[in-house]
Amino acid sequence: MSALAAAPSRDFVDLRDWGAGAAIDLADLALQLKRRPPRSRPLEGRSVGLCFMNPSLRTQTSFQVASASLGAHPVTLHFGNGTWNMEWRDGTVMDGQASEHLKESVPVLARYCDVLALRAFPAGTSWADDKADPWLNAFRSSSRVPVISLESAMGHPCQGLADLMTLREKADPVGKRFVLAWAPHIKALPLAVPHSAAQAAVIAGMDLTICRPEGYDLDPGVMEWCRAEAARQGRSVTVTDSPETAFDGAHVVYAKAWGSLASYGVPPPQDSAFRDRWRMTAAKMAKTKAGLFMHCLPVRRNLVVDDAVLDGPASVVIDQAENRLHTAKALLLKLLGGL
Ligand code: CP
Repeated sequence: MSALAAAPSRDFVDLRDWGAGAAIDLADLALQLKRRPPRSRPLEGRSVGLCFMNPSLRTQTSFQVASASLGAHPVTLHFGNGTWNMEWRDGTVMDGQASEHLKESVPVLARYCDVLALRAFPAGTSWADDKADPWLNAFRSSSRVPVISLESAMGHPCQGLADLMTLREKADPVGKRFVLAWAPHIKALPLAVPHSAAQAAVIAGMDLTICRPEGYDLDPGVMEWCRAEAARQGRSVTVTDSPETAFDGAHVVYAKAWGSLASYGVPPPQDSAFRDRWRMTAAKMAKTKAGLFMHCLPVRRNLVVDDAVLDGPASVVIDQAENRLHTAKALLLKLLGGL
């Protein structure tokens, strides 16, 4: 296994922070680990603290299994469900539901664990407040050990890393076309996954098309980064509101529902004409160039994507989810010096 360059930041909280080269190195290390799982236990005696404020299947399980398989001990905590309810705000009078402040709980956990990880979804009422990621940043500033984001308002970097690995695993992605396709949902979902998926596609050297209804743009800072990174690689970023034409000749379709920044917290239209126009269907996939279908999961069948697509040969969603395990191993090895 080749050694990687030192991480430019102690924490792994955004796919952009370490740069495109470091993300590709990590994705390729994960590919190596998938092909040849390590026989030794390079993280023997280390502990990994996994803190969740929201539900998870893949993130929780992949990090638990990755930790154990490398010899480390995973500790999983669901804040407020088996632990005390937490507070993050400075100077607040703690006379509500929260019994413990991150200023104590995180330093305590950092005495037990060699790396800490947090999932904290946005509150969903103000994008200006949410995009500052107050929970994640309060958690980081109280931790003396490296912190991994397991999804915050701004990104889901571990999912993005697995997406990047999947793109590089399936075929050489450079110069191919990646369509990030907005999809219907009953809720105004966070933008973390589409942000990280867009970043992963650009890091992979693909031409990125974002197909979304008016009012459903990604965060301007994320778009600016994607455009700059795409330009650096001689690639393009296109935004369209035409699902009738966006899939023509695409090599990868990544479907995802997300909420509107223009009407933050408001669920998208629910009428059947709107849903039919934006749901991912076999007819849309037929317009691609034998394109792959990706989704981070969990997914609502026949609302986001039709059964025929999800169960069809183009779908790589289970491989994508498996790759969460291998990328979690690569990340832990990188952060804990197990290489
Ligand atoms: N894709 C993903 O993060 O899945 P979970 O929410 O189940 O962890």
